[in-house]
Amino acid sequence: MRSRDRFLAAFSGADVDRPPLWLMRQAGRYLPGYRALRARHAFWEVCKDPALSTEAALEPIRLFDLDAAIVFSDILVVPDALGLGVQFTTGEGPVLQYPVRCTDDLERLDARAARAKLSFVPAAVRHLRAAIGEDRALLGFAGAPWTLFAYAVEGQSSDDFRRARLMLQRDSVLAGRAMALFADVTIELLLAQLEAGADAVQLFDTWAGLLSAHDYARFVAPHVARICAAVQSAGGRLLLFVRGGAHLMPELARLPADGLSLDWRVDWREARRLCPDRVLQGHLDPVVLLGDDAGIIAAAQRVLADMTASSGARRCIFNLGHGVLPETEMRAVETLVKTWKTWSS
Ligand code: CP3
Repeated sequence: MRSRDRFLAAFSGADVDRPPLWLMRQAGRYLPGYRALRARHAFWEVCKDPALSTEAALEPIRLFDLDAAIVFSDILVVPDALGLGVQFTTGEGPVLQYPVRCTDDLERLDARAARAKLSFVPAAVRHLRAAIGEDRALLGFAGAPWTLFAYAVEGQSSDDFRRARLMLQRDSVLAGRAMALFADVTIELLLAQLEAGADAVQLFDTWAGLLSAHDYARFVAPHVARICAAVQSAGGRLLLFVRGGAHLMPELARLPADGLSLDWRVDWREARRLCPDRVLQGHLDPVVLLGDDAGIIAAAQRVLADMTASSGARRCIFNLGHGVLPETEMRAVETLVKTWKTWSS
């Protein structure tokens, strides 16, 4: 099957030779071409120049023959365009110069100006589509409102984002207004990427697993549901990635997303019982790729076997449960791809 047909079949529920494969964070520091690109250009420069963005996005496709490319960008483009001043310091992750801590901080944010500033993202999608042609699937993406809120409040990465979680408890009205604003900008960003040629979009909620099911349902799910509805009414397809979301599965199953991207802690067959008609994507532990070939082959075969046993491999996308780690060797990805290509149930 052609890569793009295999990818689209996951959404239509058609039979496939094997589930389509792409990897979260498939472009990045584990690749030599990316490191060389970054030696010459700053991170934001790569994101904002369509030719450089396409160069970064294409490297893993050329090396590993994956079914889908994802536009090279970042979830923090939205807070940056809203004026929070996102910087990537080497080694320490993102730093936001102007975090959101009170109503005044929120009122300074200008959604209208942000939309105009984000035109480089659909421009990169358009450039990438022209480069990969029609045979390969193409994904756009954005950060989910809670994860963007978490970075916006904290001002940097964190293990537990306690400042953001505290704000959700103490000032849920302010938190709700901030997430609604992020959702507004996100909807436009996702629709622009679909319009520019993306076959589907993925919404990354990396930090939703920090919340209780109650708080997720009450404070976060309504914003995600609004984004799903907007994408679908424009005829688009949306995958929702939640890290550490096993305890949120009943809530996630209620959302109108076309598919859920799950991490390694979710039981695949349980998830399939809960979501019989949805795309399920995942969920190999990226740490497995730091180990030897035998471990990679065994783990990949286990995921593929679960997909086959629970739905005949229909409505599945093979992926990791989180992004490729920077220490990953290319040989490990090659082993994964080879296991997938030669797999038969
Ligand atoms: O192939 C791809 O997936 C590349 C496109 C992409 C990037 N970031 C590029 C990037 C995507 C889909 C993302 C998503 C993203 N960004 C998420 C959600 C997925 C996840 O991993 O949880 C999050 C939380 C971010 C925020 C972010 N961006 C952080 C925390 C960091 C620094 C640490 C890290 O993970 O690398 C970034 C920087 C970033 N975004 C890099 C890349 C390739 C590394 C920049 C560099 O040093 O060259």
